[in-house]
Amino acid sequence: MKSSMLFNRAISVLPGGVSSPVRRFSPAPFFTFSAKGSRIFTEDGASLIDYCLAYGPLIFGHAPDFLVDAVIEQIRNGTVYGTPHEAEVKLAEEVIRSVPSVSMIRFVNSGGEAAMSAVRLARAFTKRKKIIKFDGCYHGAVDSLLVDGIGANKSPLSEGITKGVLEDTLVLPYNNASSLSKINDEVAAILVEPVMGNVGLILPKAGFLRELRKFCDSTGSLLIFDEVITGFRLSKGGAQQFYRVTPDITIFGKILGGGFPIGAFGGRKDIMELVAPCGGMYNAGTFNGNPVSMVAGLNVIRRLNEEIYYDLASKTERLCSGFEEILEDAKIPAQVKRLGSIFTVFITDQPVRDKSTAKRARHDIFFSLHRALLELGVFFPPSQFECCFMSVAHSPEDISETLEKFSLAVEVVKRGRWG
Ligand SMILES: Cc1ncc(COP(=O)(O)O)c(C=O)c1O
Repeated sequence: MKSSMLFNRAISVLPGGVSSPVRRFSPAPFFTFSAKGSRIFTEDGASLIDYCLAYGPLIFGHAPDFLVDAVIEQIRNGTVYGTPHEAEVKLAEEVIRSVPSVSMIRFVNSGGEAAMSAVRLARAFTKRKKIIKFDGCYHGAVDSLLVDGIGANKSPLSEGITKGVLEDTLVLPYNNASSLSKINDEVAAILVEPVMGNVGLILPKAGFLRELRKFCDSTGSLLIFDEVITGFRLSKGGAQQFYRVTPDITIFGKILGGGFPIGAFGGRKDIMELVAPCGGMYNAGTFNGNPVSMVAGLNVIRRLNEEIYYDLASKTERLCSGFEEILEDAKIPAQVKRLGSIFTVFITDQPVRDKSTAKRARHDIFFSLHRALLELGVFFPPSQFECCFMSVAHSPEDISETLEKFSLAVEVVKRGRWG
């Protein structure tokens, strides 16, 4: 098999054989040759219906023709200029039209970079040090944000992060606004995924986001929404439009780049005017506002409309209710969480409302299911903690085929072949 040959080569030149940890799964990841629409084509000749979709950016599926044409045209005109150009102004205007809490935006190169910059900006604006994040929320590979665990259990999620860096990060339980009453420090910002997408899909409890807004209003802290997953995914205005809560700063990534590298942070004008060279909060980057990402993002964002979101949600509903029926018939206890075009199959009969409840799901059964699905031609992300996504390119036939294969995969898991 070509994938295993490539993996053998990769393992000696790339740490773990991959460029990002989640891509490594046991016994060995497949290697992708190409991708189009709802499908990934592997180096081994398999065609997989893809619900991983590169972890979220591909709302129109892989390589839609309109995007390929626009990007090729841009590449002919240059790939990076090191000067201002029109596409970055157009994309900024488009985001500002779509997300009313954003009046100015800075384009960077990844969601993590945007999160790191948003935290620096909040500290610069408030002249305070502490930030609050929530257990299980992920904001990129950023030292001060790679931390989870409540109270005495607070611990870094990586080696190489100093205690000093983590001193100013307070971690609270998600969906539990009453924990804010114990905060005695002056806080620069609350940073939150308005809908959690990094321990599987976890929805905010009614009123949770509003309580965060209230806390910030009464204490002078800034509210930062990390909409790297939810931005342009739940609606054109993101989770903040969906839940009607207005943050001070929003972090974007994924869909905003139309499948090309991107990150961005934007918000109120009085805050954003602190960003260099307008103000004294430093941010810079050779590839910031990269014309290829800007053109790709612009072409994707402009095409998104209510009808598309409605269609994505109904396809997701059909798929998820099909999963529920199959799992129920098979007597496998599960919670199939979905919102818009995001979903997660949690193998548990207990409600999932935060990281600690998500961790109780049966990862071993999920992994067997993942493996069986892969053998049958359906690609779910290889972790119970990652969300699945629906794209415009997924057809009704893809969904019927997925349900047939899901049913077979559940049978395989039940027989314990890979259990
Ligand atoms: C909510 C959230 N924030 C930030 C990030 C980091 O984005 P990037 O991988 O582009 O650095 C991710 C990545 O998955 C994410 O899900």
